[in-house]
Amino acid sequence: MRVEVSDRGAARVLVTGAAGMLGSELCLRAPDGFEAVGTDLAAGALVALPGLDLCDEGALERVFAEHGPFEGALHCAAYTAVDKAESEPELARRVNVDATRALARVCARQGTWLVAVSTDFVFDGAAHTPYTESDTPAPLSVYGATKLDGERAALESNPGRTAIVRTQWLYGPRGKHFPRTIHALAREKGRLKVVSDQFGSPTTTLELAPALWDVLRLRGSGVFHAACEGACSWHELAVAVLRASGLGHVPVEACGTQEFPRPARRPAYSVLDSARLAALRGRRLADWREALASYLRAEPLA
Ligand SMILES: NC(=O)c1ccc[n+]([C@@H]2O[C@H](COP(=O)([O-])OP(=O)(O)OC[C@H]3O[C@@H](n4cnc5c(N)ncnc54)[C@H](OP(=O)(O)O)[C@@H]3O)[C@@H](O)[C@H]2O)c1
Repeated sequence: MRVEVSDRGAARVLVTGAAGMLGSELCLRAPDGFEAVGTDLAAGALVALPGLDLCDEGALERVFAEHGPFEGALHCAAYTAVDKAESEPELARRVNVDATRALARVCARQGTWLVAVSTDFVFDGAAHTPYTESDTPAPLSVYGATKLDGERAALESNPGRTAIVRTQWLYGPRGKHFPRTIHALAREKGRLKVVSDQFGSPTTTLELAPALWDVLRLRGSGVFHAACEGACSWHELAVAVLRASGLGHVPVEACGTQEFPRPARRPAYSVLDSARLAALRGRRLADWREALASYLRAEPLA
């Protein structure tokens, strides 16, 4: 079943977190027949409705009444500060659980399809083969636990019309991310130490955004995993970024997670099996190395 474009013209889709790394890409990549209506706390070039705090269910209701009807909602707004969440669990819960539930409730009342983005951090990383959607989550951090509870709240509150899309290791043209940080540190310090015992799949928002639009267009429901193909460690990713950016001469020493203690525990292995999404769309996201190369060609790191 596909979302039908109404006689009124383009189908309007609410994009939350439109000032963020993923939400901004979704706003730029609305497919033909769809119009993205971006919201966020802050104003921004792609934010049509600034100042909408999703924790305020009444404000959300008013947005649906005044700017809807919406054929869908692509929910990217989140409390994403993984380490800070350990000391701000209430705020993380309000945004990742309560606001997600509020959005799902409003969607249910309006008959709106909801695609809510989640994370590999719902898993504990004890696996040795890629996680499927039927594997049991066991988050290690406040961030992971609140995202998992947000998933459950969305599925319960807007039953049958909700897709949860778990992704990982995101980077893209806007926002703070690992390739940008590594590039800046390499230039500043001239040598680096990067953890080599955490494995995942670096995923560009340029690959993920069209996949999320497809989940909405094709009315996917239930849980999907969505990551670029292949996997690597943070150390391998750092080396690949620097080689592709003319900084291949900078030494990158491999080290263990214990050398970089951080407030939130991370899964050691959180590679996602994205076969269910590939079956829905008829194609996979690109291999992480190819996706990184195309990203760096289009958006060279300065
Ligand atoms: N980045 C990754 O590597 C990664 C990996 C896996 C999953 N994800 C998931 O992907 C989604 C998008 O992540 P991202 O990296 O694009 O995050 P991001 O850049 O931090 O964007 C999230 C946006 O949500 C906004 N927000 C926070 N609290 C809000 C509230 N109460 N009401 C309205 N908006 C609020 C943030 O505003 P402020 O900046 O002003 O707080 C920010 O603009 C999230 O669901 C995240 O959990 C990300």
